[in-house]
Amino acid sequence: MQDVLDIQVVPLSPACGAEIRGVDLTKPLSRETVEAIRDAWDKHLVLVFRGQNVTQEQQLTFASYFGDLGSRKKAPEPLRARAEGAQQDHEKVLLVSNIKENGVPIGAFGEGEFWFHIDSGYSATPYRYTFLYALELPSTGGNTMFSNMYKAYDAVPEALKRKLTGKRALHIHEYNRARQADASGDISNIPHYYHPVFVTHPGTGNKTLFVDRLMTTALEGFDPAEGAAILDQLYDIGERREFIYEHVWQHGDFLMWDNRCTIHARTDFPKEQRRLLRRCTVEGDLLRE
Ligand code: OGA
Ligand code: MN
Repeated sequence: MQDVLDIQVVPLSPACGAEIRGVDLTKPLSRETVEAIRDAWDKHLVLVFRGQNVTQEQQLTFASYFGDLGSRKKAPEPLRARAEGAQQDHEKVLLVSNIKENGVPIGAFGEGEFWFHIDSGYSATPYRYTFLYALELPSTGGNTMFSNMYKAYDAVPEALKRKLTGKRALHIHEYNRARQADASGDISNIPHYYHPVFVTHPGTGNKTLFVDRLMTTALEGFDPAEGAAILDQLYDIGERREFIYEHVWQHGDFLMWDNRCTIHARTDFPKEQRRLLRRCTVEGDLLRE
């Protein structure tokens, strides 16, 4: 059993992110250790464990200390070929990879840049947490960036906060990683949901800005042009450099983040190089302002 006294929390940037040292994720963890990790998580939003060597089962066991494991969500029919990899054989696990075997992708999210987003933000109950473990990495790029959406909320001008209080925004699962979702046509067959623009984090009680450039496409109750202009302003606030921690992956890195108070993105990487990470999630709840 891991002793809570072994744990060290080392902040990684002024924005968010901390490295947790002294924890071996293959071992059963005591309740105190899990509580210490949870406290650090609420404070730092993104946690990094280096030099891990975890099996799929160990990853799922660790994630389940923090809630019910999330199931992979099926992509809408037109996107299915891209989102459903050949080796996606465990409903709680998603392989994030550009690798193809016999011309068939083994996982999801392929190559290239990936805009800022919230995992499954388009559902009524977006994943609370995501856990991502690096198995194969390119020699450069493919960094994952996290933005602190508490800081983004605080940076929204007061007049805009008043204007958007009580308002909701449309999140939709129609995206192409580096192109904004298109919600202009009939969206009845595309998963979507209206969430409050400002969400109170149930764990910390603090408000966050809950929009992202990739999948948040409209403000309810606004003229479309005005809504789009306001959203542009909000995306830009959410992506301010000073709110971002950029993670440069090393082999054996295990990351976990909170989707209610962060958005994340991926930088480009050489497409001829292999990149493979193993992802699992914890189910979320309805979000309130
Ligand atoms: C994800 C994700 C980014 C990356 O797994 O949800 O956004 O760096 N991954 O591949
Ligand atoms: Mn993601």
